[in-house]
Amino acid sequence: MIYFDNAATTWPKPPEVWQAMEHCIKSVGANPGRSGHRMALQAGRLVDEAREQLSLLFNISNPDRIVFTLNATEALNLAIKGLLKPGDHVITSSMEHNAVTRPLHLLQGKGVEVTKVACAGDGSIRVTDINSAVKQNTVAIIITHASNVTGTLMPLAEIGQLAKRKKLRLIVDAAQTAGVFNLDVPFMNIHLLAFPGHKGLYGPTGTGGLYLVDGLELETLKEGGTGSMSHLPDLPDLLPERYESGTLNAVGLSGLAAGLKFVRNEGTEKIRQYEMNLTSRFLAGAKKVKGLKVYGPEELYERAPVVAFSLAGKNSGRVGMLLDQEYNIACRAGLHCAPDAHKTLGTFENKLVRFSFSYFNKEEEIDSAILALTEIAALPNERFYEVKDSPCGC
Ligand code: ALA
Repeated sequence: MIYFDNAATTWPKPPEVWQAMEHCIKSVGANPGRSGHRMALQAGRLVDEAREQLSLLFNISNPDRIVFTLNATEALNLAIKGLLKPGDHVITSSMEHNAVTRPLHLLQGKGVEVTKVACAGDGSIRVTDINSAVKQNTVAIIITHASNVTGTLMPLAEIGQLAKRKKLRLIVDAAQTAGVFNLDVPFMNIHLLAFPGHKGLYGPTGTGGLYLVDGLELETLKEGGTGSMSHLPDLPDLLPERYESGTLNAVGLSGLAAGLKFVRNEGTEKIRQYEMNLTSRFLAGAKKVKGLKVYGPEELYERAPVVAFSLAGKNSGRVGMLLDQEYNIACRAGLHCAPDAHKTLGTFENKLVRFSFSYFNKEEEIDSAILALTEIAALPNERFYEVKDSPCGC
């Protein structure tokens, strides 16, 4: 199979990831951070290893400020619902994933004011427009680092400067960039960084996390056992356990630690260059496919390795199904859980096909996909009736 759905989750994972998970479940199967026996301590060390690797990757001085979650969505929910109160105003973009827009929508019903800054047709945002949206009660800016639809990179460093000048909290959704792009948390003035473990960090699904800047406290999303201060009725103030009630996913996090070591050994610079080379090859090939329109920025340096496109006259869901069933190419077609982004691009009705590349894709796979798309483009449009409830898109 040619797997171009890495923006949803990366596959394959480096062998050391599943080897680490096998080791953990076979030999270190105790509950991390609870009992005091040796195996429990060993399991705790595996979890700590993931935290330490993350702090090195993101230049975070205190690993305890990183809280593990199930995925980036859970991390964003904790950041958004934990920070914002009725009467607060928050600024976001029109390119966000539902992981941002749905919690904000819920909070709007509870008295939080939301401004969605309109992005351009290629998904890009102007920092001046964010600046103009700042009001007296603005407390935060919430922004994706790169669109999960078009791969459009947001000017994070500049937005960080703006947040600093205006004394606003900056919440960043790094779902598509962690492990691929440099994320220097203090340098970028990021206060809350939500990241998935299972995409560019090559951990398994069920892993992710949230970094909280020193001194920032959030309302908790869940309360329960933390393995510490058990005599108290309230959660302990200590991080990370304050936000990590319940048994941690030690098996998954041991895989994440291995994924992180892989990423740090290879280096994000090398990973990015490799993936952007694949992206560039795809974009060049796509220009020759009749009726293929790529969305997102023209310039490669304004993109992450995620490309969305349409084929003139052809239903995107149907194209995705054909790629899967006849060409063995896995991609994601549809709205990509980002309806606002599709409205911004003007593709809400017809939707798009998305290819997203990883360090494990090959140039030959790009060439095969271009050939497949050339063949599909030549098929009569009548074959591309709309597929309701397509397994390839939503
Ligand atoms: N957010 C992930 C995607 O874009 C799941 O596919």
